[in-house]
Amino acid sequence: MEDVGQLRSQLLAEIASAGDLAALEQVRVATLGKKGRITELMKSLGALAPEARRAAGQVLNALKTELADAIEARRAELERTGLETRLATESIDATLPARPEPAGAIHPITQVMAEIIAIFGAMGFDVLEGPDIEDDFHNFTALNIPPEHPARQMHDTFYLATAEGASKLLRTHTSPVQIRAMQALKPPYRIIAPGRTYRCDSDITHTPMFHQVEGLWLDRATHMGHLKGCLIDFVRRFFEVGDVPARFRPSFFPFTEPSAEMDVACAREGGELRIGAGGDWLEILGCGMVHPKVLANVGLDPEAYQGFAFGLGIERAAMLKYGIPDLRTFFESDLRWLRHYGFAALDVPSLVEGLSR
Ligand code: DAH
Repeated sequence: MEDVGQLRSQLLAEIASAGDLAALEQVRVATLGKKGRITELMKSLGALAPEARRAAGQVLNALKTELADAIEARRAELERTGLETRLATESIDATLPARPEPAGAIHPITQVMAEIIAIFGAMGFDVLEGPDIEDDFHNFTALNIPPEHPARQMHDTFYLATAEGASKLLRTHTSPVQIRAMQALKPPYRIIAPGRTYRCDSDITHTPMFHQVEGLWLDRATHMGHLKGCLIDFVRRFFEVGDVPARFRPSFFPFTEPSAEMDVACAREGGELRIGAGGDWLEILGCGMVHPKVLANVGLDPEAYQGFAFGLGIERAAMLKYGIPDLRTFFESDLRWLRHYGFAALDVPSLVEGLSR
C-alpha cells in the first residue's frame, strides 16, 4: 500500500506535467493502457489471498478512476490553452483593407447594361425585369407570334416540362417584358428591360445564352418621330460621339408595325472600327411602332394608345463600343480576358462623369 501511495503521486505528477496532448497520451498508455502500470498491477491481484485481494482491488480501482479523471482534466486543460494560444497568435484583423490583388473587374456585359440604364434612365425610362423562364403566351403568342408562325423558327429555344403540362421555355428575347409591362402598368410609361435571353444556337457569332435590352414607350400619341429622336440620342450618348449618322431600314417584326432596323454610320480603318464616321453602315438594333394586335392581346385599345419598342443585343453593343472581337469569349470566364476588357468596380457609369472611363 505504501508503494501504491508513491506510485499515485508519481503518476499524478506525470499527468500534470504532460506539456501537450501527445505527451499526455503517452502517459495514459503507460498507465492505463493494455500494458500500463495500473493494468499490470490489476493482473497481479490474482496471486493474493482472497482477503488481501479484495482490499487491494478496492484501492487499485479507486486509483484507476482517479488517474483516468486526472488525465481527462489535463486533456481539457491542454485543449483550452491550445485554443487560447491559437486565438492569440493567429488573430484576424477585420479592419484591414481588402487585398488589392488579384483585382476583380466588372464584366463588360454588366458595364454596358449599366451604361444603357444610365442613358435611358436620364430620358425617364424605368427599369423592369421579367423572368428568364417564360410561358408561350408572353414569349410568343401575345407578341403576335402565334403557333406555326415562321418567326418561331428563328427563336428555337430550350423547353422545360412542367407539372401542369403547359410547357415553359427560356425566353428567346426580352420582348415578353413588354407584355408584362402592359399587363401590370397603366399608360403612359417608358420602360427598359435588360436581361438574359436564350436560343438553341451555338457558333462563332451565337451563344446559347446572351443578353438584350428591351425598350417600350407607350402613350396616346407617341409616333415614329419620338422613336427616331430617342434612339438617335441613345446611340450618340452610348458611343460618346457628338453626331452619329443613323438610318432606319424597313424591316419586319411580328410585334411592330412599321418595323425598322437601325443602322449607324461607321468607318473601318485598318481593322479599327470607328462609329459615327465614314460611309459604312452597321446594324445596331431592331425597333418599330407597337403592333395594334399586341395592344389588343393585352386588352389595350389600339385606337387609344400607341407607342414604340426596341430591342438591342448587349454583347453586340459591347463588342462595337469596346472593340471586343469574339462573342464566345464573353462566357469563357477567362480571368486574363476579364482583366483586359473589364472595368474598375467603383467606376459607376454616369452621364455626368462619362460612361466608359
Ligand atoms: N425581340 C427582337 C429579337 O430578339 C428584337 C426587337 C425588335 C425588339 C424590334 C423590339 C422591337 O422591341 O421593336 O429579335
